[in-house]
This record gives sequence, C-alpha cells and structure tokens, in this order.
Amino acid sequence: MKNDLSPCRSVCETCTKCPLHETRTNVVFGVGNPDAEILFVGEAPGENEDLSGEPFVGRGGQLLDLYLNGVGLDRKENIYIANILKCRPPKNRDPKPEEIEACLPYLREQFRIMRPKIIVCVGRIAAMTLISPDFRVTKEHGIFFDRKGTLFMGTFHPAALLRNPKYKGDCFEDFLRLQDKIRELGIKI
Ligand code: URA
Repeated sequence: MKNDLSPCRSVCETCTKCPLHETRTNVVFGVGNPDAEILFVGEAPGENEDLSGEPFVGRGGQLLDLYLNGVGLDRKENIYIANILKCRPPKNRDPKPEEIEACLPYLREQFRIMRPKIIVCVGRIAAMTLISPDFRVTKEHGIFFDRKGTLFMGTFHPAALLRNPKYKGDCFEDFLRLQDKIRELGIKI
C-alpha cells in the first residue's frame, strides 16, 4: 500500500467538530483500496452504516455493489468509497451546511492523499457539494467534469433508485460510461 489514510482516519474517529458526534455509533471514514484511482463519494451514513462503520451496507449498498461488479469494480479491491459526512445525521435528514463545512476537510485530506483520477459523486448532495451547487442529477448524470485535472461525474443515489426504479437503467449507463472512461485513461483496475 502506497497511500496511508490511517493518520487521517485516527483523527476523524475522535472528531467532535459538529454535534453529530454526540449521536453516532461509529465514524464511517471509508472503505476500499487507498491506492485506487477511482473514488466514490456518497452523502452520509445511514443507520446500517452507523452501526457497522462501513459506507453503503444496506439495501442501497447492495444495489451499488451490483452496479460496481457489473463493470468490473469491487469496493474492497479497486476503488475507495467515502462520504461527504462521516457521521450519521439523525433520522437520515439531509446534511446541514455547517456539518458539511466541518466534515469536508477530512474528505479533502482523503483526496490529497489518494489523488484519484476519477471521483464519482453518488447522489444529489455529493454532486452539489463537489461539482456545482445547482447540479441536477436527472439532467447532468453521467457527464464528466474536469476540475483541475480530476474528472468528476455525478450519478443517482441507490436509495433514490430503490424509491424510483425507473432511473435504474440510466444509472447503469453511467457505470458503463465510467468503464469506458477507465479504459480511455488507461486506469489499471
Ligand atoms: N447513503 C450514503 O450516501 N452513504 C452511505 O454510506 C450510506 C447511505
């Protein structure tokens, strides 16, 4: 392993910068291969993630794994998955701006250490935070945006797909576009 995220993880695991630390069971720092060149970023832990300490482990996580595996990606092997917020907001409400502000330095440090070539924003909140505040997932999903040499792409959140299955095909197409981009850039997976 080349990239060492453990010092950042240790600091994050004792974080008390926002009130979410009072209600968390576990900090959900991230999972995967720190040397990966592809980083997935979700919104925030839900109940299952808070209990297990791992991102995307509920029904939504199973759907995400299905799409990942469908294009040759594996959460433990060749990507890394993190969230905008590392602690669960009560009742899964949207993250508050001040919580995002408090937590974002951890994600930035994850970026700094990993230097991913592609960042996939999973869902509206991640895409609005990392790509553009007025990002519309239904209109702009699957498009790659170059930000200082890193490619950012927004796609549907699996929880949204479970509520609204009509976008499942569009979402898998985004994963196929991702697969093409990985090949185009010669990223080893
Ligand atoms: N939703 C997210 O955005 N992230 C998780 O880790 C779980 C659910």
